[in-house]
Amino acid sequence: MQHFLEIENLSLQEINHLISKAMAFKKGEVLPDYSQKRMATLFYENSTRTRISFEIAAQNLSIPVIHFDNALSSEIKGESFEDTMANLMAMGIDLFVIRQGKARFYETLKALCSTDVHLINAGDGTHEHPSQAMLDLMTILEHRPQLSTLKIAVTGNISHSRVANSLQILCKIMAVGELVLVAPPVWQPTSLIYGRVTGSLEEGLDKADVVICLRIQKERLKETEFFELEAYKKHFSLTSARLATAKKDLLIMHPGPVNRGIEVDAAVADSKNSLILQQVKNGVFMRMAIMDALFGE
Ligand code: CP
Repeated sequence: MQHFLEIENLSLQEINHLISKAMAFKKGEVLPDYSQKRMATLFYENSTRTRISFEIAAQNLSIPVIHFDNALSSEIKGESFEDTMANLMAMGIDLFVIRQGKARFYETLKALCSTDVHLINAGDGTHEHPSQAMLDLMTILEHRPQLSTLKIAVTGNISHSRVANSLQILCKIMAVGELVLVAPPVWQPTSLIYGRVTGSLEEGLDKADVVICLRIQKERLKETEFFELEAYKKHFSLTSARLATAKKDLLIMHPGPVNRGIEVDAAVADSKNSLILQQVKNGVFMRMAIMDALFGE
């Protein structure tokens, strides 16, 4: 594997390899030493989990990390993103972890990369967030290994969510039994990759094994796409009361950042069924597995 850009590009075999490698790292498998490589993180959108997680994963594999600060870089003086990347490559960076607002930003970069330079997509606009979907899958598999009989509900702003897109593709490849995307009509996807869509949280939660709450993503909404916050909380917020009719062992997930009281109540986010911090923990191991797949033989 040269780049890690889209779930769409991954084969079932590659997905299974990444999952088992991440789980092996978690169990304490001897760590490879990639101290001769260098990684740079370039985040043009805010991040807490993804950037730090990639940086810790690199440190665990002895990879020196350079954080590129866009606000202090010469891009502010007019240098293009592609020229910035070409210069960083000329300095000997082997691996770039990039988050950009533009979907498929990496298409213009691939031609710049020699075969030993690697790109990781850490989120491209509303298109994909492949490492998030992979760590979510790892977390689900730790608790519910039988994907073919599983019902997963994904709630929130589906149409603007790169996480929802990557999850749909991943669930399709992994043949997850049932995937239900729950959103108010204004946030329902116009085209569906996998599963079905409903405007009813009750229907989504009915017999569900896993619920993944997504952020409402106010910053991505156009004027015609706003949905009243109070209406969202009333009909879609995951509260203890709403869970009364759900399975008692329903697993609660959220990629973060969590808006408590909006997508999910604090009591639910912190409940014993919540895997939210386990997702974050697994993120480090999954990102180690991704780097190992890029740098390994
Ligand atoms: N899940 C996720 O992408 O979180 P950050 O935006 O904090 O990286």
